[in-house]
Amino acid sequence: MIKAVIPVAGRGTRLLPATKSVPKEMLPLVDRPALFYTVQEAVEAGATEIIFITSRHKPSIEHFFNPDPELESLLEKKGQEKALHEIRKVTSLASYHFIYQEEPLGLGHAVGLAKNLVGQNPFLVLLPDELLLSAPSVSQSLVQSFQKTNQSQTAIMWVSREDTSKYGIIEGEKRGDLFYIHNVVEKPCAEEAPSQWALPGRYLFTPEIFDDLENLSPGRGGEIQLTDAMTKLAQKRGLWGLPTTARRIDTGNPLGYLKAQVEMALQRPELKEPFLKYLSDCQKRHP
Ligand code: G1P
Repeated sequence: MIKAVIPVAGRGTRLLPATKSVPKEMLPLVDRPALFYTVQEAVEAGATEIIFITSRHKPSIEHFFNPDPELESLLEKKGQEKALHEIRKVTSLASYHFIYQEEPLGLGHAVGLAKNLVGQNPFLVLLPDELLLSAPSVSQSLVQSFQKTNQSQTAIMWVSREDTSKYGIIEGEKRGDLFYIHNVVEKPCAEEAPSQWALPGRYLFTPEIFDDLENLSPGRGGEIQLTDAMTKLAQKRGLWGLPTTARRIDTGNPLGYLKAQVEMALQRPELKEPFLKYLSDCQKRHP
């Protein structure tokens, strides 16, 4: 049984003004919130419980994942079977927990809040800004890879030198298909980056990470950084990097959000053909 932690407390300032009133994770990709796809990835990788680290400013996230008996009986009365099926599917995918991060103290702080709910089992962490397109999914690959090492894992992705300052970057050595990690640096500039292997926001940790998150001093940007705890974990207990070639889209900015929209539409059999035709017409009209 795996649990998944999904941090969603951030304010999403790169998508303002929309995110002034709608959480960025609730902006739709086709007809379901972006966050739904992250939850689906976790569930398909075997997660049965989802722990959202959220904010009191974002009640719509809870509203979406919790049952709404009033809406269900309305749809039942109207005979709208398909819609009823869709909304029940969301609430029955997994069991959901909501923990509030009262202050924006950093990603490490957010993950640390899940300690009691996670308990003694390994758990996934998925950062929902990152849409990672691959089959099997990156989370599924992490779960499979964990079965070989029984130690914490993080996905890693090769990035250009100029992009190292946007990610956690690992220092490690290749062992077989994996990298044995010695150190993780949060957003180093190109000159200081120990490699070009970046963290794209998918992790599978053993619960020992919580010991490393406790008593952690603020790191880069004055925040409690998950990457600092990962360095401690790597040095004391072992941490592996699993290279991924998944196509990555950062949905937290306007262009990325549009790309994600197109990708998700093209995955829908009923939309694919008419939408591609529309896009090709658009290209002709806007050469
Ligand atoms: C966070 C992490 C960083 C990771 C990135 C992936 O940064 O701190 O290590 O590489 O997510 O998206 P953020 O983008 O939230 O600043």
